[in-house]
Amino acid sequence: MFFEKLKMLEIEKNSKFSERVLILSIPAAVVFIVLSLLKLLSPFSAVLSYIAIIFFNMIFLSSISFELQRLKRYINDLTIGKYDQSVSLSEQEAKDIADAVNSMHRFFTDKTDALEAKSMADMAVLDTLPDPIMMLDRSGNILGANLATRKLFGPKITEQNIEKILNVPSFIQAVSNVLKNKSESENLTFFMPEPLSKKLFAHINKLPAFSHARAFASVSLFDLTKTITMEKMQSDFVANASHELRTPLSVISGFIDTLQTTAKDDEAARDQFLNIMAQQAAFMSDLIEDLLSLSKIEMQQNDLPKEKTDVSKIIDEVVSALTLKAQDKNMRIEVQKQPHLPKIIADSGQIKQLLQNLTDNAIKYGLSNSAVKIDIKTVQSIPPSKSMNVADSKAVFISVNNKGPKISPTDLARLTERFFRLQEHKNQGIKGTGLGLAIAKRIIMRHRGNLTVSSTTLNGTTFSVYLPVKL
Ligand SMILES: Nc1ncnc2c1ncn2[C@@H]1O[C@H](COP(=O)(O)OP(=O)(O)O)[C@@H](O)[C@H]1O
Ligand SMILES: [Mg+2]
Repeated sequence: MFFEKLKMLEIEKNSKFSERVLILSIPAAVVFIVLSLLKLLSPFSAVLSYIAIIFFNMIFLSSISFELQRLKRYINDLTIGKYDQSVSLSEQEAKDIADAVNSMHRFFTDKTDALEAKSMADMAVLDTLPDPIMMLDRSGNILGANLATRKLFGPKITEQNIEKILNVPSFIQAVSNVLKNKSESENLTFFMPEPLSKKLFAHINKLPAFSHARAFASVSLFDLTKTITMEKMQSDFVANASHELRTPLSVISGFIDTLQTTAKDDEAARDQFLNIMAQQAAFMSDLIEDLLSLSKIEMQQNDLPKEKTDVSKIIDEVVSALTLKAQDKNMRIEVQKQPHLPKIIADSGQIKQLLQNLTDNAIKYGLSNSAVKIDIKTVQSIPPSKSMNVADSKAVFISVNNKGPKISPTDLARLTERFFRLQEHKNQGIKGTGLGLAIAKRIIMRHRGNLTVSSTTLNGTTFSVYLPVKL
């Protein structure tokens, strides 16, 4: 047993076992030398006694050293994650130390587990945020970044310096002000050059002292591009609407002027001018009507319709209202209905407006002496759309087709833009507000349906509407 222990101790090169045995034996050696010098002990007995002392010291020290070695190995194992609680120690003190180490280990493992769980939960929360957030150390290295940041700048940004990721001088200056304690926080708006081409708002904040591990500052970014585009769209819309209203208004003012002056006594001119003025006033009234309609539908965008609506009945009403207009161009409206169409959940007033806009366009822009064809049937699903959130439901499908020249793909993609009208129709002097299809698209969006348009030389132009049976 004793020799086994010694053997084990030999493995440990740094155990200093022999040094300790020798040092412990020095006082005995001195005593034996003095005794033999005083002739109280023969040199032979002195050497023998000294060897015996060394031997006893070895036995005594071996058990302590052995326990210490075991303890050392056990703690080393713990540090590299090998956790084995069944360390067998015989000395009470060594056992006490092992117990203390064990409870310390347990305490830190529990704490680390809790911290890990907390930081994972924090990260999951940060990942759900739509805007990028980063954590920086004192030198500007990125310690952590949420999902929105990784989506914007790529997945491998941690431990990289912020200067590498976002090298815009005004932004870097603001970050440096916070990192060098020149200010507690900085806010700025800046433009990210290509390939990102984004206008961003940055909020850089020094973290409170208690949260400092390595993290020193946080950077949050807000993408302003969308807001700016929306604002631009809104101001363009106001500009367009004002322009569209000003044109007929200036025509009317012009004629009023003429009627008050040069054409004051010209009866024939007065009738003609009043006629034009009435047309312009009617156009202004249509435009205002469409603008109000559009704004009302936009306001209702998140308010789901609830009425049970019979599309087939609405089609009949639309057709009878527009038959005269079609006959003026010697056109026929041919309706093909699948029997037993399901009713849909919808806003019947808006569905009527939508189908009226499409049929009216087909008559207005279709070839004279041709047919407008309307088909209605049930389909099992609605095709997905890039710009619309479509319902996952069976749907009623309505297509409105008219003959006419092919519309180019570029123009086709712009048809539902507010105020967009094909140049050829403007040139032909066909009147229109350019809002009918924008209104149609928004009605379909509110109903979580879809709208597709196709145009070929052979078949003319077809608008296809999908309206979900259930929202
Ligand atoms: N069925 C169609 N065939 C050909 N062009 C069409 C058709 N429907 C619409 N368009 C084109 O799309 C433009 C926008 O239509 P719309 O928004 O209804 O406005 P408006 O009819 O008042 O001009 C029209 O001016 C026309 O140039
Ligand atoms: Mg129209």
